[in-house]
Amino acid sequence: MAKLKLDNIKFDLDADGVATVLLDRKGEEFNSLGPELRDDLVAVIEHLETNDDVKAVVLGSAKKDNFLSGADIRWLRKLKDADTAAEMLRTAQDGFMRIEKLTTEHGKPVVAAIHGACLGGGNELALACSMRIASNDEKKTQLGQPEIKLGVIPAAGGTQRLPRLVGIAAALDLILTGRSVRPRKALRMGLIDEACPKEALFEVARKRALEAVHAGPEPDSGSGKTIGRIRNFLAPAHLQQLALEENPVGRRVLFSKAEEAMLAETKGNYPAAPAALRAVKTGVEEGPAAGYAAEIDEFKELVVGPEAKALMSMFFATQDMKKDTGVESDALPRNVAKTAVLGGGLMGGGIATVNTTQAGVPTRIKEVDEAGVGRGFAYVSKAINKQVKRRRIKPREAAKMMHLVTGTTDWSGFGNVDLVIEAVFEDLDLKREMVAQVEAVTSDETVFATNTSSIPIRLIAEGAKRPENIIGMHYFSPVERMPLLEIIVTDQTADWVTATAVAFGKRQGKTVIVVKDEPGFYVNRALSPYMNEIGWLLEEGVSIEDIDAAMVDWGFPVGPIRLIDELGIDVAAKVGKVMTGAFGDRLAAPAGFDKLVGDDRMGRKNGRGFYLYEEGERKGVDPSVYEVLGVTPETKLARTEIQDRLGLQMVNEAARCLEEGILRSARDGDIGAIFGIAFPPFLGGPFSYVDRIGAGVVVDKLSRFAETHGDRYQPAKILTKHAKKNKLFRG
Ligand code: NAI
Repeated sequence: MAKLKLDNIKFDLDADGVATVLLDRKGEEFNSLGPELRDDLVAVIEHLETNDDVKAVVLGSAKKDNFLSGADIRWLRKLKDADTAAEMLRTAQDGFMRIEKLTTEHGKPVVAAIHGACLGGGNELALACSMRIASNDEKKTQLGQPEIKLGVIPAAGGTQRLPRLVGIAAALDLILTGRSVRPRKALRMGLIDEACPKEALFEVARKRALEAVHAGPEPDSGSGKTIGRIRNFLAPAHLQQLALEENPVGRRVLFSKAEEAMLAETKGNYPAAPAALRAVKTGVEEGPAAGYAAEIDEFKELVVGPEAKALMSMFFATQDMKKDTGVESDALPRNVAKTAVLGGGLMGGGIATVNTTQAGVPTRIKEVDEAGVGRGFAYVSKAINKQVKRRRIKPREAAKMMHLVTGTTDWSGFGNVDLVIEAVFEDLDLKREMVAQVEAVTSDETVFATNTSSIPIRLIAEGAKRPENIIGMHYFSPVERMPLLEIIVTDQTADWVTATAVAFGKRQGKTVIVVKDEPGFYVNRALSPYMNEIGWLLEEGVSIEDIDAAMVDWGFPVGPIRLIDELGIDVAAKVGKVMTGAFGDRLAAPAGFDKLVGDDRMGRKNGRGFYLYEEGERKGVDPSVYEVLGVTPETKLARTEIQDRLGLQMVNEAARCLEEGILRSARDGDIGAIFGIAFPPFLGGPFSYVDRIGAGVVVDKLSRFAETHGDRYQPAKILTKHAKKNKLFRG
């Protein structure tokens, strides 16, 4: 027998005949499935099949907190055509089938020993094993099929083995949402057979492997059913589910319900979702062979399609941004060991929360009075308790986090603060006063960050003793949930200050973009003409329902008018004025918003907006809005026309931000729009969208709109340039 020569797998065979196979991709912190690991795995499988000394196998990982994260996305992205993709999948399916057959045909049980991420191809590998044992580490260990988030589907057996193991409904839930489950949940649903402390993982796995050898084959081995599944099915809820899934009528109901829910969620914009559903259905109705073939047929088209390209590019962009220091120089971030938040309101409370829960740094909340401090504390405590309830953290950890927060109504305890984040009322004089007072009680090393949403940072820094220490850290509400942080630098901000703010933002769990200090920064600037356009469309007599429905159909989670109701019509009107002041007619808001504010309509917060609210719950459109605006909603525009008019306004403004150097890159513009405005991720962000449909097409459409609707549609110069040279933004 050929001796094993492996670079990416550690192999050992003990005296009892238990082979331990540890995945250990060379030169990488995490295991991912690329050609190198695949080749080694095939060699090991061959060895396991043919070596008679091998009686059982334990399959684990040599990495610290990682089993196998899935296919190497760099590899997936390089796939140029459907045929190459199909070939790759056939090899993967064949390899995993051989692992399954080690148990079913060679009588050698294979126990997966899982600690850390076991996702995508990693979970599919585990599914091919005869048993799965995971560490009970609720933080590090997670199992799931996240392929859908990259625009593809599990296609190394995931759509086939998962439903057989956990049932169709549970499998569809994991595959269609891409969410992962922690050990406790995985055990409950039968995805793993056992959970044990990490330290005992390999010992337990080895023991179970030997027990399985001695017990001989399971009566139903090969059908995919395991002890875990049988145990689970004794629960009444599962029995009911099983009854539903095991008869054709029940299954038809189940699949059509799933399809309905999926379409409502994706609006047909994510082709991977129906593809996954079809692959599961084919396997269930026509048997595994047809199911495996369906997986390949669906995947090979998806992986080279535009949605997967956009989603993968977004994945790489966020990875890339993790390494970005935010500055061009080699200035290093300074350590932030203590922070303070000025103002414990909606934003201050949220910022204090991520300071403690994510960054784990002591935070002092400064407020005007005890009641204010109390509000800040209550915010943090509520957010932390929510995590305890969801079992994300233990009560002991929650108490520790809460201890990191202190409160004050004076400036005590500010002497050794490294970073102050200001979130008091939106008032320039007040903010300047905050700068002066903070400068008086802190050192030259203290960074002063302001969370202003609309005041230029340079104005806040005017008259400061240390303007180089001043920077904008613009969070979005609710802070603990919104992923983006927009960091705003003035001409005076020192590079070490920017690097420090960027590094700290990442510790808070944020994706960070660094932008230049111009009105609206990036996110609100790109949002501004989009919001204005609603007003113009309404004036033309387009209905609220048509506008919102068109943009949800385009891929936004909520329509723009609903969004205005959520943000506050008064806030939108105020921002509109700031933007008009800065950019003149091009970004002038139509008069409608002022009329609404005059009618005491602020949106959800006062229960009066474009929509009707009853006890806080949103109902249908409030028809009296049209009267206030003085319009009749009788104009019918094609849905695509509405989408172009609104969507391209945002795209055009994003392009101007790049042209003017407000954005450091198109990458930042894409990620900022997706994470800050919920720009449809499958379109990849405004710049990827232009690349996808072509700058020429965008310029033509904008020019046509400019002729009919006015100069606000004039295409950005950079778009025209790209169109002429046929150049891509993201390449
Ligand atoms: P808020 O009204 O909920 O909170 C402001 C807090 O500041 C209040 O609790 C108030 O007591 C406190 N405060 C006032 N003067 C103070 C002083 N001298 N010292 C200490 N605390 C003082 O307001 P919110 O929404 O939290 O906004 C705060 C800042 O964040 C504003 O600049 C706003 O523009 C900005 N912002 C707001 C967003 C939002 O969605 N609400 C989003 C992004 C930024």
